[in-house]
Amino acid sequence: MPYYRVAGEIPRKRHVCFRRPDGGLYAEELMGEEGFSSDSSLLYHAHLPTAITASEGLPDAAADAGLVPNHPLLPRHFRTGDLPAGGDLVLGRQLLMANDDVRISFTVADAASGLYRNSTGDEAIYLRAGSASFESVYGSIQAGPGDYVVVPRGTIHRWIPLAGGNGADGAAPRAEALVIEARGHIRPPRRYLSQYGQFLEHAPYCERDLRGPDGPLTTDGEDVPVIVRNRGGLTRLTYAHHPFDVVGWDGCLYPYAFNIADFEPIVKRTHAPPPVHQTFEGPNFVICSFCPRPLDFDADAVPIPYNHHNVDSDEMMFYVAGDYSARKGSGVGIGSITLHPSGFTHGPQPGAVEAAVRGLRGGKASTDETAVMIDTFRPLLLAPAGQRSEDPEYPWSWSRAARG
Ligand SMILES: [Fe+2]
Repeated sequence: MPYYRVAGEIPRKRHVCFRRPDGGLYAEELMGEEGFSSDSSLLYHAHLPTAITASEGLPDAAADAGLVPNHPLLPRHFRTGDLPAGGDLVLGRQLLMANDDVRISFTVADAASGLYRNSTGDEAIYLRAGSASFESVYGSIQAGPGDYVVVPRGTIHRWIPLAGGNGADGAAPRAEALVIEARGHIRPPRRYLSQYGQFLEHAPYCERDLRGPDGPLTTDGEDVPVIVRNRGGLTRLTYAHHPFDVVGWDGCLYPYAFNIADFEPIVKRTHAPPPVHQTFEGPNFVICSFCPRPLDFDADAVPIPYNHHNVDSDEMMFYVAGDYSARKGSGVGIGSITLHPSGFTHGPQPGAVEAAVRGLRGGKASTDETAVMIDTFRPLLLAPAGQRSEDPEYPWSWSRAARG
């Protein structure tokens, strides 16, 4: 995240004495990527960020036990609405699919999480419905429907679902989210940026669309537990003082939110392929946002996707809102997740192309579809929670409809 920000109080220069009101020194902490060779921030703590008093291994309900290859090979349709609701946005994650680069989970959280630090990689949390307060050592972000919240590796944070997030006064706290956990960093695509990191004019979003944390956020407390995920599993570390004791920070590494409605769609006269929808890149995967937009505008255009086989990719699509014409008649609806794996050619349902052409000629000029897509360059394994919500009829939906 190359966009410099400063929050709270910081000293005039890096690595100089910075004193608390009682005359003691604030504790400076660098959070930095790629071994002092990439983006970083400096945080100033009231207490030592190193002071731990206990460490305890925890069972890991999200462990990879139960992941199986997509065999026999099938396109898949999962109904997230069939998954159980409840829990928090960290430990309540229900793993749907994963590989060595990325883990994709779903959660309908109704409780506040404990403090959490994921040291295996960055996370992007896409909030489909409800709202939540994200609190971290950098400050807080209020997240609502359509927000991606990108959390850099190692950020100590917690999630608090909020009541009435869908505009309903008095409704119970609820945050429905797709959780993308990378084994590395999640960043804006390189091609959107100048060599020094500014968003270029052709990019579908820019710095003004990114919401950094309000803060800093200070909380008193002693003997505070933080759940840490590393490659070994989950550990509960007890900190002598609450980690939210930062009086100021500056730098280019921090959590931020980007709302899918702020993505500026790129439209062509004939159908544009998914790279125009790319929003983020991760190690061996991309995240794309399909947003409401004008339809392809050539008089002879086929304004929905053509059949395609990305031979190097598995493609996961989360249907967020609107009417997704290409999938009509397949059983796919809002909240559905499809997985179209390498080895399978996918495309519109039978009749969808003809209907779309008729619609275009009849004056339908736009689509209201909203979807989040993740393309991975290594195969995705399937997890038990996903399989429990699977629609077994989906693989045959093209042939069934085609046979009438
Ligand atoms: Fe596709």
